[in-house]
Amino acid sequence: MSYRFLLPGHSAESKKIMEKLLKKAAQDLAAAQNVVALTGAGISVESGIPPFRGKGGIWERFDPMEYAHIDAFLKDPAKVWNVLLKEMKAMLDKATPNDAHKGLAKLEELGLLKTIITQNVDGLHQKAGNTDVIEFHGNFAWHRCLECNKTCPVEMIDLTQIPPRCDCGGIYRPEVIFFGEMIPPEHLWRSRQISSDCDVMLVIGTSAVVQPAASMPVVAKESGAKVIEINAEPTPLTGPISDYLIMGKAGEIINGIMAELERLL
Ligand code: OAD
Repeated sequence: MSYRFLLPGHSAESKKIMEKLLKKAAQDLAAAQNVVALTGAGISVESGIPPFRGKGGIWERFDPMEYAHIDAFLKDPAKVWNVLLKEMKAMLDKATPNDAHKGLAKLEELGLLKTIITQNVDGLHQKAGNTDVIEFHGNFAWHRCLECNKTCPVEMIDLTQIPPRCDCGGIYRPEVIFFGEMIPPEHLWRSRQISSDCDVMLVIGTSAVVQPAASMPVVAKESGAKVIEINAEPTPLTGPISDYLIMGKAGEIINGIMAELERLL
């Protein structure tokens, strides 16, 4: 088996493999003309935001069909606000970018990373400094009135009444994509375009099971790009799509790659 899919642990051999993979990723990035990143909940775990799936994941505690489907929200907005959205707001209010977000901002500054396609709604890539971020599943920072369509920044949302209401009396919803809703076509179109144009795609902290986001690395691979996966565990992309997986915490791995990259540039 080639080293590219060996999963690093704590042995001397694993450490060597990790070093090799970090070097390889830095070399691939340094040689690239057009890097795109696809990120998921795992990149924000080190900022204190839990992932959706797996141990400690949000969907372990809440049934997404009961709390994250648009029909469930429209049927009982107070229930969804009380159980899921209030907690999300409290978590996102506190979160700040971690080393993985900061590393991606540095990659943009170096002229290597062009665009991030993120499934996250936490706005942490922009807070870290990235300027071209496609928010595939929306952004919790903005809310929209279901009646008059007025948008309102989250810090202006009054949670003393649940569900929160606009001046017109309508209920506010976050500008995020609920299950059962379409990805904005312009986001989908542009994401496909840049995925097919990139020469390296970094896929960071996503279980790669939610479509159509999970198909972007497939588009990249089919168009000849190298796909580098950084994740805490293997995913359906590992093997058939990813050129290699660097397994571990996104912040630590990005720091390792950036250190190697500094030596090269
Ligand atoms: P998931 O929660 O499905 O997957 C997160 C991935 O990150 C998992 O594979 C974890 O192993 C990995 N992970 C956890 N901690 C990590 C760390 N510190 N460093 C690196 N990797 C880590 O999240 P997404 O793939 O983003 O959709 O989920 C996709 C979509 O499903 C979300 O955008 C959301 C959800 O339902 C909507 O809300 C529409």
